[in-house]
Amino acid sequence: MHVSATTQAPVQTAADTIVIGAFPAEGVAHDLPGEPLGALLESGEAAGEAGRIAVTHAEGRRFVLVGLGPREEFDGERARIAAGRAVARALEIRARSLCWEVPHKVGDEVLAGLVEGTLLRGYRFDRFKPSGDSGARLEELILSAHHDISQVVGRAATIATAQNRVRDLANRPANDLTPSALAEYALGLAEERPGLEVTVLDEPEIRARGMGALAAVARGSAEPAQLIRIDYAGGGDEAPRVALVGKAVTFDTGGLWLKPKMDMHEMKFDMAGGAAVIESMATLADLGASGRVMGIVGATENMISGRATRPGDIVTALDGTTIEVNNTDAEGRLVLADCITYAKREGAERIVDIATLTGGVVVALGSVHAGLMSNDEELASRVEEAAARTGELVWRLPLHERYAEMVKGTYAQITNLPLPRVALALTAAELLHHFAGETPWAHLDIAGTAYDARTAYIADKGATGFGLRLLVDLVRSLAA
Ligand code: BES
Ligand code: MN
Ligand code: ZN
Repeated sequence: MHVSATTQAPVQTAADTIVIGAFPAEGVAHDLPGEPLGALLESGEAAGEAGRIAVTHAEGRRFVLVGLGPREEFDGERARIAAGRAVARALEIRARSLCWEVPHKVGDEVLAGLVEGTLLRGYRFDRFKPSGDSGARLEELILSAHHDISQVVGRAATIATAQNRVRDLANRPANDLTPSALAEYALGLAEERPGLEVTVLDEPEIRARGMGALAAVARGSAEPAQLIRIDYAGGGDEAPRVALVGKAVTFDTGGLWLKPKMDMHEMKFDMAGGAAVIESMATLADLGASGRVMGIVGATENMISGRATRPGDIVTALDGTTIEVNNTDAEGRLVLADCITYAKREGAERIVDIATLTGGVVVALGSVHAGLMSNDEELASRVEEAAARTGELVWRLPLHERYAEMVKGTYAQITNLPLPRVALALTAAELLHHFAGETPWAHLDIAGTAYDARTAYIADKGATGFGLRLLVDLVRSLAA
């Protein structure tokens, strides 16, 4: 979608549809056709109440009036929701170019929210639908305000477009997006962005370096695993070196601990954390953010074959820890374990990992909050603040020595099948904690929020792109 800002009035632009937000008990701005819009408000067909939508025609265009709710409560998230609703209606009436009349006297977070909500709601995954397929699609978005808002609009568009690219990656099926294809994709992103440097370790290299946990997951697959490393240095040399670590299991069958058939196809989304990391790195470069950041993505399939890891196998992780792989379906933590060690060895001073890690977090938090677990109060607060700013919600869950005890192994140092079978999101986090050690670390379990988590602005089935906004905001706040 082409996005721009203008100081022209909406009716002076070429947009076929103009969207106007209404606050309760406030009229319509003077540069709009006041008569038909005022009439809509007067009759009660349109109102400032949040969620109310009305459509009318004037001066040869369509006008969508959307209620914003009370002005003092209108924030970034409410702006995304209002935009999502307005776009849903605009698409129904086949709008192609849309102009927002930006409400007067709103902050940058509201402005960014309107842009993000519009772009996110306008997203469609049509890579595998023949072009010209019926249906609505927005091609152009214009933001009209009295003053120059092009910077804020540009930033928000960069972020929302990147989030949509995360969705594109995660929606791609596993036969299309293999670990190698993901590595190629990351290399392609870096080619277009001088600020990024991508290094890929292939499977022989992964083995040679002793990443036995990641390699154990990859064993059963015909597709070779890849460790994708992306470096970004945007100055700010005193800023701590941050590592973003992502799980990219491009398909998770569960291995020999085979998953039930019914929803197995959803496990193409098991690389959503890795996709969020890759696109966050690209976004930092696009924004020219300051900070020193490395993205580490462990990409592999989790398949079955005569070579696949068996329940009970003992493997040695990169840091020397021996792990009893009692459940081949608890593979994400194995992938992340070696990525976390690798990040530490490469000088990471803060680590944030993001992964579709456990069904347990879906039971606990549904698709509203991602689980946050951390060994560091300061870092955890930063993540919570970034979540509040971006509307990508997190809820802190506990770490505790007694959960850590549950991952102690019988025949090896640790096990990936904690018993008893309770608190599964927390014991998974404790396994990661073992590898993070004392390094400030935060873990985001996005199993519930990465796909099929619908809001007014992410309405489709499929990937949500969760984490992109949060990680980009977080890194910027850590570098500040
Ligand atoms: N990828 C799954 C977690 C998952 C579940 C993601 C639901 C998205 C939706 C992960 O690899 C997994 O299988 N976890 C197991 C671990 C358990 C066997 C200890 C789980 O949570 O059931
Ligand atoms: Mn699994
Ligand atoms: Zn998995």
